[in-house]
Amino acid sequence: MITTLLAGDDPAAIARAADILRAGGLVAFPTETVYGLGADALSATAVAGIFAAKDRPADNPLIVHVADVAAARRLTRSFPALAERAAAAMWPGPLTLVLPRGEAVPDVITAGQDTVALRVPAHPVALALLRACGRPLAAPSANRSGRPSPTRAEHVLADLDGRVALILDGGPTLHGLESSVLDLTGPRPLLLRRGAATLEQLRELLGPVDALDESDAAALRRSPGLRHRHYAPRARVLLVAEGAGEAAVERALAAGERVALVCRREVETQALLLRLPGDLAAFGRELFAGLRALDAAGIERIVVEAVPEQGIGAAIMDRLRRAAAG
Ligand code: TXA
Ligand code: MG
Repeated sequence: MITTLLAGDDPAAIARAADILRAGGLVAFPTETVYGLGADALSATAVAGIFAAKDRPADNPLIVHVADVAAARRLTRSFPALAERAAAAMWPGPLTLVLPRGEAVPDVITAGQDTVALRVPAHPVALALLRACGRPLAAPSANRSGRPSPTRAEHVLADLDGRVALILDGGPTLHGLESSVLDLTGPRPLLLRRGAATLEQLRELLGPVDALDESDAAALRRSPGLRHRHYAPRARVLLVAEGAGEAAVERALAAGERVALVCRREVETQALLLRLPGDLAAFGRELFAGLRALDAAGIERIVVEAVPEQGIGAAIMDRLRRAAAG
């Protein structure tokens, strides 16, 4: 398969993408979080193509993207009051809601679970595509399974060249981190994945929201994605406290490793320095692109300094811990 790259703001490109999707093919498109690898969510064979292209384990369910709340409701058995409130405040936007699954949703999307994950993305190209093809789109992040999520079209091309028919280029994504995944099927809202919508924001909007306790096996069953390797560059990642970067770099250099230091401070170092913005939203926007750039530079060891775990910082630290776990 030859992969075509087209500007996402061109109506002819959207029309072509919609044709490919209606015919059961795959199209990568920008969202405000990260790029997604889309297929017609109502076609089990089209969706199977996503798993093959990404080498994604079949037990990891997919998010279904829809154009509006009405389309989301049609894919559920029930849409509780909290879902109405969350959708009214946050959609289009970086919040995914896990709800009781409707009959139209194929098994391959939910990995056989009785729930479905839904979101309305806020990117104009994603919305134009959803409207043009007139069906819900299943779309995981458009990376090879386990790699950092793509925040630019060139990242998608690097991972999926020859595996996707068309990539719509929408430039760098706004958040650079994935959506927050909120499960509304239990007694209390449960945040399964930290993301671009913060826990603080969700609590203010919805009242009590539990954060997933990953040492709790029963809770973990509700978030199948956490079983798998995630967000990891090829280089080994070492996460250290803010201020501890230089010492960790010294040790890596002494061990003969090609090392990079990722931090928010001005530092003198022998390592390749990737200085990310102090502002956490801007840090989040650039993190995955930075990790990919260090891979491309042949770095073997990435030392990353921790960031404060508030607001979007909690999502950043979640991704860094997973990257460090390999
Ligand atoms: O920002 C995003 O969410 C991006 C863009 C493209 O929308 N998509 C994305 O998809 O990050 P993916 O497949 O990389 O991550 C989806 C996460 C996984 O952790 C998966 O396990 C979880 O959502 N998920 C999907 N369906 C679920 C369900 N029914 N119950 C619990 N978790 C679910
Ligand atoms: Mg992903």
